[in-house]
Amino acid sequence: MSQRETWATRVGFIIAAVGSAVGLGNVWQFPFQTGANGGAAFIVVYLAAVFVIGFPAMLAEFVIGRRAERNPIDAFARLGHRDWRVVGAIGTISAFWILSFYSVVGGWVIRYIVGSATGAYFSGSEAYFGAISAGPEAIGLHALFMALTVGVVAFGVTDGIERSTKLMVPSIVVLLGGLAIWAATLDGGGAGYAYYLSPDIDTLVANIGSILPAAVGQAFFTLSLGMGAMLTYASYLGRDDSLPADGATIVVLNTFVGLLAGLVVFPILFSLGIDPGSGGLGAAFITLAGAFAQLPAGRLLGVVFFVVLLLAALSSAISLLEVVTAYLVDNTDRSRSTLAVGLGAAIFVLGVPSAFGLSILAWYNAIAYNLLLPLSVFCLLIFVGWVDAADAVTELRRGTGLSEGGATAWLWFVRTVVPLGVLVTLLLGLQSLAVRAGLIAEAIV
Ligand code: PFF
Repeated sequence: MSQRETWATRVGFIIAAVGSAVGLGNVWQFPFQTGANGGAAFIVVYLAAVFVIGFPAMLAEFVIGRRAERNPIDAFARLGHRDWRVVGAIGTISAFWILSFYSVVGGWVIRYIVGSATGAYFSGSEAYFGAISAGPEAIGLHALFMALTVGVVAFGVTDGIERSTKLMVPSIVVLLGGLAIWAATLDGGGAGYAYYLSPDIDTLVANIGSILPAAVGQAFFTLSLGMGAMLTYASYLGRDDSLPADGATIVVLNTFVGLLAGLVVFPILFSLGIDPGSGGLGAAFITLAGAFAQLPAGRLLGVVFFVVLLLAALSSAISLLEVVTAYLVDNTDRSRSTLAVGLGAAIFVLGVPSAFGLSILAWYNAIAYNLLLPLSVFCLLIFVGWVDAADAVTELRRGTGLSEGGATAWLWFVRTVVPLGVLVTLLLGLQSLAVRAGLIAEAIV
């Protein structure tokens, strides 16, 4: 087997991980989930979930990846726990699964860049979304998005992922920042900031049962946890920098981009009197596109917004493909590019059904979100917290000035609060899957 690749620089790793974290989850899902869950009240819980639950869990993935220097499946064997490879397998399968429909949405985004430039959806954004989100065109664009993803991963960790994310991530921040400044100039947008930034405690207390699992699920998804992506990226570190410092930078930047997306979306919607809680899966595509149609310079705005969304989606998709590719690169003698193409083709095929209708895509999403993701994070936390704790603490402290007390505090979180939070999310997620499948009636939930 040839020498395993490593990141060229520490910053390269951080930017690639931010690229993975910042995705459709931040720019598409986050503002609309905030809208659906009562605005600022959701954000309070979400921020707590990100820092109290997501951050320690991210460090848990880093610790395994950097120590094992292997893909998620082989990492457990390398650390001397072969039976736990099944946990890595769940993560790897999740990455494969999620990418299959993430790429379908990526295809819509490509369509909307063109549609914004030509004004194609300006006369009826809902009908337009219905027409392009399912069927042959959706499948073709799903193929195109997959091809772009494969194109990056085929070039490898440094020449493909590190180099491309160094361009994509700063572009996302600059363009989104520009949109936020522009949105600040809109008449009537002020109500959007109030809705977004001043939490109503009564709403929070009254809806905590639904807000909590949504916030925790969103925290994991946005931080790319549970799919082995952060584990795989950390496996290419090959040096002893501070994992907590790198992790904190990644978490803060990711949160910043999510909040920035809200500063674009809410003033726009409020300036036009559109309810931010409406829209469901198609929200960015129907509600927001509908808003662009009504605004001056709407075409330009639409193009910029959907370019941001495409860059965000692509820099996340490559981390998902990398998880699966890493497994085969570590275990076969075939070239990385051949493997990336083959896997891309297989993932494309798996995603085709979700390009046939929104209800199928919603099912794919629900299985990932409610089952695979929390299950995988939960098992990983048990491994790090209870099975491999001593080595994990040593690994966390390598390359840092982190005190023993700091590392012990982290371990305490990984053992208790974090898995508990995940377990509750998993149970509620299973319940919502059962409701979705019609196994139990909505009324008793
Ligand atoms: N974090 C990405 C987003 O917010 O869109 C999604 C994601 C990417 C999840 C990579 C998991 C992953 F491994």
